[in-house]
Amino acid sequence: MKILLTGATGLLGNAYAKAALRRGHSLNALSHTQACTLTGIASNPQLDASNLEALTELILHLWPDVIVNCAALSNPSTVEAQPELARKINIDLPKQLAQLSTHLGSRFIHISTDMVFDGLSEAPYRSTDTPIPTNLYGQTKLIAEREVLACNKEDPVVLRIPILMGNSPAGNRSVHEKLLVTLHEKEQAKLFTDELRQPCSAGNVAEVMLELSERRDLHGLFHWAGSEVLSRFTMGQRILNHLGLPAESICPVKVKENTNCSSRPRILAFNLNPLVSKLKTQPIDFQEQLDEITFIEPLRA
Ligand SMILES: NC(=O)c1ccc[n+]([C@@H]2O[C@H](COP(=O)([O-])OP(=O)(O)OC[C@H]3O[C@@H](n4cnc5c(N)ncnc54)[C@H](OP(=O)(O)O)[C@@H]3O)[C@@H](O)[C@H]2O)c1
Repeated sequence: MKILLTGATGLLGNAYAKAALRRGHSLNALSHTQACTLTGIASNPQLDASNLEALTELILHLWPDVIVNCAALSNPSTVEAQPELARKINIDLPKQLAQLSTHLGSRFIHISTDMVFDGLSEAPYRSTDTPIPTNLYGQTKLIAEREVLACNKEDPVVLRIPILMGNSPAGNRSVHEKLLVTLHEKEQAKLFTDELRQPCSAGNVAEVMLELSERRDLHGLFHWAGSEVLSRFTMGQRILNHLGLPAESICPVKVKENTNCSSRPRILAFNLNPLVSKLKTQPIDFQEQLDEITFIEPLRA
């Protein structure tokens, strides 16, 4: 298949690009500030995706079978700092891609987030539950989901995913990379014991996306995550233990004792039905996610 991938230099886009190349697909890997340099790609255009005219011209020229959107302003604090750019990249871009995919008859896969929920439910969220985002990042992602599903009624997939483990080209995007960057800057990192997440690796999500790229019988809004729900502190402990780093590098704190963190979703866990019963790829546990870690430079430097 001919695939157009946006955000190819990001944590998830890079993992998807590698998976698509392994399967022998023709991959056009779009990015912005850095070019995607993976061996075997068909093309690696660099453009600012807020320039929808240039993007449209490129896509009409390529006429891909599948469009995969991993481009985003994915950091909530960047979204708060640059709301206009966030609107362009997190909402206008997926909307335009959804419209183009309808026009071209292409499969469209768009990535969303567990941050569309407020984290107040004790039960794992189903894709049919009502989302209530607590920050601007979650709001932009929710609006985009609705635009995508409204603009492409034929063949869309919106995949909500949790925080990601894995190895990003930039070395600062995944859970363990962010922890190592913090420890490089400070002696100790504070991690919440009462904020629960269901992490997954970018590699595992990429396999799911690849199956969805190839399986045109699955449409709509789906949830995917790992198989374990863990506190941020427990994740930190297990990362340090896995890398042979001192346990005292992290210190346990509670969200409820930090008044400036009141808008943070407390428990973000997903019910993975119906996708989990329809795919060959299965959710992986935290140990399997740890086993994928290769990047440990910041702390060693
Ligand atoms: N990472 C997570 O833990 C997580 C959790 C839940 C959901 N998600 C979602 O998963 C998707 C992928 O996230 P990620 O973590 O892989 O993101 P990321 O590592 O921050 O990468 C973002 C990508 O978007 C590209 N991009 C940003 N602005 C652009 C622009 N103006 N024009 C063209 N490209 C632009 C970046 O290209 P350059 O680097 O070249 O600028 C980069 O390739 C996003 O939809 C995100 O919301 C991520």
